[in-house]
Amino acid sequence: MNSKSDKMRSVRGTRDLLPAETGVWQRVEDEARAIFYAYNFREIRTPVIEQTPLFARSVGEDTDIVTKEMFTFDDRDHESITLRPEATASVVRAYIEHSLYNEGGIQKLYYIGPMFRRERPQKGRYRQFYQIGAEVLGSDQPTIDAEVLEMLRLLLSRLRLENTELLLNSVGCPLCRPKYLAELRQALDRVKGGLCGDCQRRAVTNPLRVLDCKVEADQPIIATLPSILDHLGPECSQHFDRVTAELRERGISYTITPRLVRGLDYYTKTTFEITSGALGAQNAVLGGGRYDGLSELLGGPPTPGIGFSIGEDRLVLAVEAAGAVKAEEKLAVYVAWLGDTALAPASKLARELRELGLSVEIGYEPIKLKRSLGIASKLGAQFTVIIGEGELASEKYQVKNMSTGEQHAMEPERVFQFVSAGVGAGLAPAS
Ligand code: HAM
Repeated sequence: MNSKSDKMRSVRGTRDLLPAETGVWQRVEDEARAIFYAYNFREIRTPVIEQTPLFARSVGEDTDIVTKEMFTFDDRDHESITLRPEATASVVRAYIEHSLYNEGGIQKLYYIGPMFRRERPQKGRYRQFYQIGAEVLGSDQPTIDAEVLEMLRLLLSRLRLENTELLLNSVGCPLCRPKYLAELRQALDRVKGGLCGDCQRRAVTNPLRVLDCKVEADQPIIATLPSILDHLGPECSQHFDRVTAELRERGISYTITPRLVRGLDYYTKTTFEITSGALGAQNAVLGGGRYDGLSELLGGPPTPGIGFSIGEDRLVLAVEAAGAVKAEEKLAVYVAWLGDTALAPASKLARELRELGLSVEIGYEPIKLKRSLGIASKLGAQFTVIIGEGELASEKYQVKNMSTGEQHAMEPERVFQFVSAGVGAGLAPAS
């Protein structure tokens, strides 16, 4: 319990993103939005709280997320509420609740926002983290799977993220999976004595989840288990072949990874992850796959779907490590005024420059020129406009280029054009 005078801190596993970091976050989100626009995805925003059964039913009763990681509480009216651990279930719930299927055709939706999982915090793993995700509802065509992966490749290349690997698998469907699960159970019966406690339980309740196990000592045993790819039925097998063929056609390389069953129960057919060599233990930048039965599971009409979620925290870490994307947030102009009579014209100039879309700061109290210039250079201003009694009398303001030190006197009207022409990229005036 905090005593009254203790400094308050953020909750374990959550963090503040300070202005020095948010520039890169904005850059990543801008790039993502531009690419979603290009691929005709539209934004959906769903609440961060949902009724608990939504996740129990979709993500699965037996998954780590549902058994260990959800922030769940009883509301005052005793309804069980959960902070969303992921958004696919919410998007499909919204799709059904608002009958988006009546709009006809395919729904291509994207979202950006916080998710909550009570995991053990470490670099790249937080209890409040952010996802940039997209879902396509209404088609089971393998072309969509390939297009979604193509879109992701474009985003990663725009962010100059190299050293990534696309891991690909198919987890079959309710027609072919039971036979595989029966074999998996049999195999597990023989070896489960050597596995961790969680896996011994999962071997009985949900054997597929054994394949997600991260316990080091279990890995050699898990490696001997039968592969789902050897058990796909004809439809799933053909679907997977078409996805891989379309990826090759688009020049997208991938690594088939039969153990990639992902930690959520709703998947059918294609599953994938993209990992980054720039990250440490938590190297999955994003994950996704098909979930052709999810809509029905949540009470909706049969609707195939596929999507992905990028861990934005991890994407930002990887982008920063690659060092290729910098968010230049340079201040264009600092307006320095000297003497009370200069305040009003200085404020007017600052307002008009801001109306042009330039980033402008002004002194808020009367100070000497030297200090003003000191502040302007500390703020990284590209230009300082100086307005004092002399400038007011001559009706010419001094404009100082802070990087070259050059200074010119000019009529107030000329300042706009001079400064606009001189400011660096990324600060183009709003039209
Ligand atoms: P997921 O694999 O659970 O899938 O999460 C996707 C990504 O979110 C992970 O690859 C990782 O980058 C990030 N992530 C997950 N947990 C954390 C955490 N504690 N801290 C930081 N980042 C984290 C899903 O959430 C599915 N909804 C993906 C999907 C969409 N499948 C179909 N459509």
